[in-house]
Amino acid sequence: MTYEEALKNARSEIANCHACPVCNGIACKNTIPGPGSKGTGTVAPRNYEAWQKIYLNLDTIAPNLGVDTSIELFGEKFDLPVFAAPIGAVTNHYGPKYNEYEYTEIMAKGCRAAGIAAFTGDGLNEMFFEAGCTAMEKAGFAVPTVKPWHRDLVFKKIDYAKAHGAKAIAMDIDASGLPFLKAMTPPSGSKSVEELREFVEYAGIPFFVKGVMTVKGALKALEAGAAGIIVSNHGGRVLDHCPATASVLADIADAVGDKMTIIVDGGIRTGHDVFKALALGADAVLIGRPYVVMVYGGAEEGIAAYTAKLKAELTDCMQMTGCATLADIDRSCIFHG
Ligand SMILES: Cc1cc2nc3c(=O)[nH]c(=O)nc-3n(C[C@H](O)[C@H](O)[C@H](O)COP(=O)(O)O)c2cc1C
Repeated sequence: MTYEEALKNARSEIANCHACPVCNGIACKNTIPGPGSKGTGTVAPRNYEAWQKIYLNLDTIAPNLGVDTSIELFGEKFDLPVFAAPIGAVTNHYGPKYNEYEYTEIMAKGCRAAGIAAFTGDGLNEMFFEAGCTAMEKAGFAVPTVKPWHRDLVFKKIDYAKAHGAKAIAMDIDASGLPFLKAMTPPSGSKSVEELREFVEYAGIPFFVKGVMTVKGALKALEAGAAGIIVSNHGGRVLDHCPATASVLADIADAVGDKMTIIVDGGIRTGHDVFKALALGADAVLIGRPYVVMVYGGAEEGIAAYTAKLKAELTDCMQMTGCATLADIDRSCIFHG
């Protein structure tokens, strides 16, 4: 199956999403339930557009040594610096083709088979997080992502993830902006550095804070002892009028890049975008909506086709900019238009 075939199949299988030729957040603007972004619906398109304004510096005066796109992260080796982003409550957002268990199992196993891995999501129904952990166990590796619930519930979910073999865990701290979290008793949502440090220490495995958009936030995550951050605005779903992740990444990488792992997401669609993210200082990227479309349109085969496309594009970018390994990709390789 090709990427284009999976995309075409998805159009009759998926709800609320148009499986567009380019997943730029425009057609699904403000579609929630669904994959849209909040309010004016401009943040997801802004994320996408920001990568398009960065160009690549052609340079082929370099040893012809071939290209290695592999990366070591979370104590594992991956074929590409790409992970599927956590997406929770898929039946609600994308329609009934899959229940949460079926979807996360296909995603986690499909990603492992394609040489990468998935982050899994969370939601109001406890089953969402459990489905991700069960899928992780079956796939051998995934990163469960817990929402910023109240203290006892976070502890319970960390225990659950570890009992199912989690080697790393993330918290989408920016989910504090989701209405269902805001309305909870006891209160859930934003956490102080001290509260975050308690979770990091309790987990005892690398802890990633997802939803950091400022240098200030990155320094707080570092102070709390996080192993890494995910520079993310939740695909525009938690705060309208947010800048693009590509616009804030370099400053954040300059501040904490030598002290913690930096992952970025938001509108990354091609191997070219992956290359640009690494050039700005990220170690790896998450890709969200397009992987969901691949699962709805082609299950494991869709995941394999899209990942192969990303790898071919990233390989080409590296060859044409004189980069043999991911470590060679730096800001000298890009041009801001
Ligand atoms: C329908 C939907 C559900 C999501 N659920 C979660 C979730 O449970 N946990 C989480 O950390 N992020 C969640 N996200 C955010 C994604 O992980 C990611 O940050 C965002 O989609 C940006 O990446 P993209 O532009 O490649 O889609 C969700 C996004 C969408 C569209």
